[in-house]
Amino acid sequence: MKDESRFWDRMASRYYRSPIKDPEAYRRKLDASRQFFNPDARVLEFGCGTGGTAIAHAPYVQHIHAIDVSEKMLKFARSQASAQNIKNVTFEKASIESIDVEDGSFDVVLGLSILHLLANREAVTEKVFRLLKPGGVFISSTACMGDNAMFFKYLIPVGRALGLFPTVKVFKEEQLVNELVASGFAIKHQWRPRKNMAAFIIAEKQQVIDCLTNPTVVERQPAVISETTEFINRKVIHKGISDHCVATEVAS
Ligand SMILES: C[S@@+](CC[C@H](N)C(=O)[O-])C[C@H]1O[C@@H](n2cnc3c(N)ncnc32)[C@H](O)[C@@H]1O
Repeated sequence: MKDESRFWDRMASRYYRSPIKDPEAYRRKLDASRQFFNPDARVLEFGCGTGGTAIAHAPYVQHIHAIDVSEKMLKFARSQASAQNIKNVTFEKASIESIDVEDGSFDVVLGLSILHLLANREAVTEKVFRLLKPGGVFISSTACMGDNAMFFKYLIPVGRALGLFPTVKVFKEEQLVNELVASGFAIKHQWRPRKNMAAFIIAEKQQVIDCLTNPTVVERQPAVISETTEFINRKVIHKGISDHCVATEVAS
């Protein structure tokens, strides 16, 4: 985390000043996210950077806990929030890996332009799953470079050695979707404006199914949301192995 935070501290001022690349796509992502907000919603944003998105979403929710490893990024975030009189966003210096919050604390978790920067993406996805309430959503926007610039993969070690890049992982959108589904999420919204742009995904934490007290519930579920859900449901019906069939437990 130390090296990463130094890198992002160095980038903070430039990041703050650089305009949003595609304002129309950004606006669409804000709108799509807000479909999942309500005035009581408690939100976690990790890798919040200079805070623009948390500040934009603040009027639509009860509270946003926004974290980042870079103190310099957070300094911009706090001063923007204070200039705009935003009171319901708390900015904290912390990494998503180390933050200690009770499971089931959040209705929404935001991870924007961050999943490809994590050394341990799958562990983080699983942590996000735990931090969400059942039915809560994980909203991510991720550079899936495996779908296009594969040559970039060979530049990364050089860029890292020169201090020009942070940790960067190359993977495909399909792989990310599979990881989310394997963690117990169902994909509710998936959009990529163009091939070379970030994949925007809204994934819902599946509800707990109580198959002992109401064993037929899985058969009476409405539309099956994803193949994994269907697989899990079938497995539950066949084996009836636990009373609380949380997706990840059943799938493992
Ligand atoms: C590319 S910027 C994205 C900022 C913002 N989310 C956005 O969309 O503009 C990535 C941010 O994630 C932060 N970051 C990197 N690793 C992190 C981690 N493990 N936990 C929390 N924040 C992290 C960096 O300091 C940086 O501010």
